[in-house]
Amino acid sequence: MQHLTHIQQLRDSIANYRQQGLRIALVPTMGNLHAGHIHLVETARTHADIVVSTIFVNPMQFGKNEDLDSYPRTLEQDKVKLTAAHCDVLFTPTASEIYPTGHDNNTVVSVPQVSSRYCGASRPGHFDGVATVVCKLFNIVQPDTALFGLKDYQQFLVISKMVADLCLPLTLVGVPTQREASGLALSSRNGYLSDKEKHSAVALIETLRWAATALHAGEPASAIESAASERLSRAGFTPDYFAICNARTLAPAQHDDRDLVILAAAYIGKTRLIDNIQLQLSHT
Ligand code: PAF
Repeated sequence: MQHLTHIQQLRDSIANYRQQGLRIALVPTMGNLHAGHIHLVETARTHADIVVSTIFVNPMQFGKNEDLDSYPRTLEQDKVKLTAAHCDVLFTPTASEIYPTGHDNNTVVSVPQVSSRYCGASRPGHFDGVATVVCKLFNIVQPDTALFGLKDYQQFLVISKMVADLCLPLTLVGVPTQREASGLALSSRNGYLSDKEKHSAVALIETLRWAATALHAGEPASAIESAASERLSRAGFTPDYFAICNARTLAPAQHDDRDLVILAAAYIGKTRLIDNIQLQLSHT
């Protein structure tokens, strides 16, 4: 695996692969890689000849009181995992390589509508930071395809709209969430949880599954949302949001919507976890 830190080195390496007619897949990450990330790398291999992964803890997507400084940085372990997964190129730029004039001074890519609710409302500026860095990475690597985990469902819709609106010439692949045997979605932030919190955290996916069953049974969305928040509170979470939405627009679900996603974010202790479940209601 090539390990590069400068944009020009990466562009030269990509140009070399392009001259050989090879297809490129990109897997952007913030590192502290778990089996979900490695699954993205392995899936990328089925879409392209060359897999490029990036590790960059993007300061622009963290709020002032968030965990930028404590976000786990585990580069040596990550390199071992990526090498074992046959990643071809790892790009780990510094913040000044990506934001030479500082991220507060950078042109902002802001994706309207889909960025505004849920995580966008709870974390102001977060999706501008995500869209801006992902747009930069797309321009640096110019991949044929890029892969993202669907645990960050809203993020995937934000990036999809950016790609469509800016006519970026690549295809996106959303890869289903990887889970522990308990059902807990794999996340770098799970590392913040004590054993007791990790045990309680399973209530997030259990509540999402309960809500999906209630929707299939014809219960009204608003009643399910309130009952789900109560369930989460009883399990030890402080809910941020629990929302039943149109899977494409993320607008609150209407009675005739059939393609739905249930999005949830909740704190357990100081750790904010997100998860979601997609479902299709049959026509009645
Ligand atoms: O999902 C993530 O890890 C990050 O938001 C991403 C897409 C790598 C952008 O920094």
